[in-house]
Amino acid sequence: MDIVVTGGAGFIGSNFLNLLVPRHPEHRFINVDKLTYAANVRNLSAIENRPNYRLERVDIADRDAVRALFEREKPQIVVHFAAESHVDRSIVAPDAFIETNIAGTFNLLEAFRALPKGYGQLFHHVSTDEVYGSLGATGLFTEQTAYDPSSPYSASKAASDHLVRAYHRTYGLPTKLTNCSNNYGPYQFPEKLIPLMLLNALEGKPLPVYGQGTNVRDWLYVDDHCEAIWTVMHKGRVGETYNIGGRSEQKNLDVVHAICDLVAEAKGVPSGELRALIRYVQDRPGHDLRYAIDASKLMNECGWAPRESFESGLRKTVRWYLDNPGWVAEVRSGEYREWIERNYATRGEGPGGKR
Ligand code: NAD
Ligand code: TYD
Repeated sequence: MDIVVTGGAGFIGSNFLNLLVPRHPEHRFINVDKLTYAANVRNLSAIENRPNYRLERVDIADRDAVRALFEREKPQIVVHFAAESHVDRSIVAPDAFIETNIAGTFNLLEAFRALPKGYGQLFHHVSTDEVYGSLGATGLFTEQTAYDPSSPYSASKAASDHLVRAYHRTYGLPTKLTNCSNNYGPYQFPEKLIPLMLLNALEGKPLPVYGQGTNVRDWLYVDDHCEAIWTVMHKGRVGETYNIGGRSEQKNLDVVHAICDLVAEAKGVPSGELRALIRYVQDRPGHDLRYAIDASKLMNECGWAPRESFESGLRKTVRWYLDNPGWVAEVRSGEYREWIERNYATRGEGPGGKR
């Protein structure tokens, strides 16, 4: 099969390709990526010379370019990861989220719909649990939970999910959709909570916790997410949605403490020294309190289960960042420094610090 993987140079997409390209020489994987700040072709150095892998630099918001690519490649399968993915950036500058996440998904669906008969057998849309909005202290998101997005990011992903479902119902496109909880692991851009805290702790920099650090996220190791997507692609039903998550709810402050403990162990310093770097900063506007996923549909229908616990996955992740200082130095380029300045220099002290 010819498989177009959009966003394959980003965090989850590159883990997906690194896992599956060597395992499936019978498939041809075409990575379609604009190579934004969040991408790094270095993530793919282990597979770049494989005969069944190729990178095409294409902006999915460019309708003509997407159509030309699909006419040329005529893929059987599309796995759609490409997106602007960071909530805080979507609050500061939402435009790119609308263009890539909504218009880009629309362009892919249109190009997929125009494929000749026999091609375009599956459009797998990769989405997030953030489309469901926030949970209170109890309960889980199921596939029946009503959409209630809070941020421009989650609203743009919700719009893209609706387009995918509408194209299935209206035009009979063979689509599948997965909504996953927060991922962590190798190659994650250090704007997101876990790699940001990890690298700051390593360098003795402040650890900026939003609000009081009591918000809860449900963490899944990235390889478990990738295996779940591959499982749904093969065993899931067409036209269906599957939630993905590993029942690993953690308060942000507990995540930061766990990172401090692991980094302290690696550096041979007392954990308290790193925990003392925690700074409570102004909260994110519209900050969802709690995410938690019920993945029983996926587990029961497709037989998927996560392999990593949060403890084992976090340990692996810390080790990966320690072992890859070259990667870290490269992604923390001028653009990265500008973002850190923009997001954190203007955030005053938050209520957590005044308790
Ligand atoms: P990322 O920001 O690390 O990578 C996004 C990739 O998409 C980059 O390679 C980037 O260059 C590419 N891209 C962006 N705009 C593009 C455009 N206009 N045209 C072509 N390529 C473009 O994101 P990620 O964390 O790897 O997330 C991948 C997908 O998984 C997203 O759709 C995201 O919504 C979803 N998701 C992420 C998480 C998470 O915790 N990171 C959880 C659930 C779902
Ligand atoms: P993030 O990694 O941005 O993922 P998302 O917002 O998509 O869940 O943030 C995870 C949690 O960590 C979220 O509750 C916001 C919080 N957070 C901080 O407290 N400090 C930070 O510097 C960042 C980036 C996030």
